[in-house]
Amino acid sequence: MSGPLVLAIESSCDETGIALVDGGRRIHANVVASQVALHAATGGIVPEVAARAHLRWIVPVLDDAWRDAGVAWSDVDAISVTYGPGLAGSLLVGINFAKALAWVHGKPLVAVNHLEGHVYAAWLLDPGEAERVEPEFPLVALVVSGGHTFLAEMRDHLTYRLLGQTVDDAAGEAFDKVGRLLGLGYPGGPAVQRAAEGATGRDRVFPRAWLGDSADFSFSGLKTAARRIVDAARADEGLTDPAEPLPDTVVSELAWGFQDAVVDVLVTKTIRAARAVGARSIVLGGGVAANGPLRTRLAGEAEALGRPLIVPRPGLCTDNGAMIGAAGARRFASGERAGLELDARPSLPLAVR
Ligand code: KG4
Ligand code: ZN
Repeated sequence: MSGPLVLAIESSCDETGIALVDGGRRIHANVVASQVALHAATGGIVPEVAARAHLRWIVPVLDDAWRDAGVAWSDVDAISVTYGPGLAGSLLVGINFAKALAWVHGKPLVAVNHLEGHVYAAWLLDPGEAERVEPEFPLVALVVSGGHTFLAEMRDHLTYRLLGQTVDDAAGEAFDKVGRLLGLGYPGGPAVQRAAEGATGRDRVFPRAWLGDSADFSFSGLKTAARRIVDAARADEGLTDPAEPLPDTVVSELAWGFQDAVVDVLVTKTIRAARAVGARSIVLGGGVAANGPLRTRLAGEAEALGRPLIVPRPGLCTDNGAMIGAAGARRFASGERAGLELDARPSLPLAVR
């Protein structure tokens, strides 16, 4: 696809992202203002604090993106914006900003599902990056983020059949909760991965919820088991004061055991689904797709199956504007337009079974 040039805005959760993307693929600019430091103080996201931070940063982020891209308004074909799922107050900041820009500059507005953005991140190319293979249909996409965990089949652009989803916690949510349990701070995902890298013993076994042959996932039992295993480890170490931390070596082993359980289930179910639908490629996206062991193991098993795994670099797995530009370009090319009455859809689904 050559062109369109899309200005894309993402503000569904705790990253303010604005990007300029050409042809749904080539990034010209991609600026993300992360609120991680802001939310670390509370150990999680306070929705109103997140919305106000978007309001504070959205104009400076646009200024930076504009400067990086070096384009003019006359070059921009459309404005795409995330309209759900996500936090209502956060979504409203991005949507309202996108509407104002569309109205002032007379540009078409395109509404994008955040989860679709995570899938379409697989098409992105960084500025100057060499062309590489595009995902081929049919494909299976595993999206694992802080709020969502699902497997979908795509037989063509913009069409999704849900194969499985979490019946309770999202994978990222489990990482965040277990990270907190291990005293690793917020967000838990990157901290758990870092701690696991230091593990010397690899015999801490956490349970896997296979749910039979289903492609659904469940992580709440794992979180409960983690609490029990951490308590037992504390007792073994003779720790009675809750303020006293576990030794780093034990934290590392526990982080490794938990991460191994999550990765095992995600990879096994994705490969099984890819086989079942005869997928020609496998796409991985969402914040948890930044996880090193998940990427490595899924890549290995995809290769054994003879199917390429396409996964964005870690910075494009976590929330960003470029992925909304990639999906927005496809929707724009298919003739979709949103009106200026566009509203936030906090519980917007991506697909149905
Ligand atoms: O996609 P994302 O940036 O925001 C949502 O749409 O939720 O995902 C954020 C989630 C958090 O739960 C975070 O802990 C997790 O992605 N995450 C990771 C890693 N980096 C981010 N989980 C495991 N390993 C990582 N390296
Ligand atoms: Zn996300």
